Amino acid sequence: MATKITAEAIRAMKGSAEKIAALTAYDFPMARLLDESDIPLLLVGDSVGMVVLGYPDTTHVTIEEMEHHVRAAARAKPRALLAADLPYRSYSTVEMAVTNARRLVAAGAEAVKAEGGRDILEQVRAIVRAGIPFLGHLGMLPQHVLEEGGYRIKGKKPQERESLLADAESLASAGAFAIVLELIASSVAAEISEQIDVPTIGIGSGPDCDGQILVIHDLLGLWPWYTLKHVKPKLNAAEQIKAAVQEWKRELGK
Ligand code: KIV
Repeated sequence: MATKITAEAIRAMKGSAEKIAALTAYDFPMARLLDESDIPLLLVGDSVGMVVLGYPDTTHVTIEEMEHHVRAAARAKPRALLAADLPYRSYSTVEMAVTNARRLVAAGAEAVKAEGGRDILEQVRAIVRAGIPFLGHLGMLPQHVLEEGGYRIKGKKPQERESLLADAESLASAGAFAIVLELIASSVAAEISEQIDVPTIGIGSGPDCDGQILVIHDLLGLWPWYTLKHVKPKLNAAEQIKAAVQEWKRELGK
C-alpha cells in the first residue's frame, strides 16, 4: 500500500525535481477522484463558499460549513495530505485560532491554512505548538477582498515586495510546512521561492514556485461564469453537463 503523505513529506519536496500539485476538494467523490489521480495535497478551501455554496466571496463561510465539507472530503480517506482553511474571522485571536484549528482536525483535516503573514504570527506559532501542521497563504488574500475592493496582483511596488519577503520568512521560521502564494508578481514569487526553505505553492503567481494549486472547478470548467487569466481549463464540464442533460431529455421523448 502506498504510504500516507504527511506535511513533512510535502515540506521535503522543496528542491525536488517534482513540482507539488495541489487542488481543492470539498466533498467525498472529488477527494477520492483526485487522490486516485495521485495529487499529494488536497485543500478543503474556503473557496467552497463561492464555487459550491453560492456566496459572493469567502467572507461568508463559517467554521461549521468548513467542518461539514472537511468531514465529507475526509471520508475518502485520501493518501494525500488533507488541509483545510480556517475561515474568515475564525483566527482573530490565538485562542480562537487553536480552538478552530482543532475543530477542523477533529473533522478530519490533517493541516490547516490561514491567510496572512507577520500579522498572524502568534496564531501560527500557537497552531504549530498544538501539533497541527500549518500551511501559509500570502499575496492576494481573498478573505480581505472587501477591504481591498477587489482581487489584484501583489508585489509590484517595492514596499509590497519587501513586505511579502519578510512575511514569507516569518511564516517559514514560525513552522509553516509550505506557503501558498496567490496572485503575486512572478518575479517576486520566484524570489520568495528562492529565499525560503519551505515549498511555495503558487496560484496565479507564475511558473517558478515549488508547486501549483488550483480551485478544481476552474481546472474542470465547472465555474463558467468567471474566467481567470492563470487557468487553462482542461475540461469544459459546464457545457458537457448541459449537453448530457439535453441528450437525456431528448431520449425521454415527448
Ligand atoms: O480557498 C481556496 O481554494 C484557496 C486556494 C485558492 C489556495 O485558498
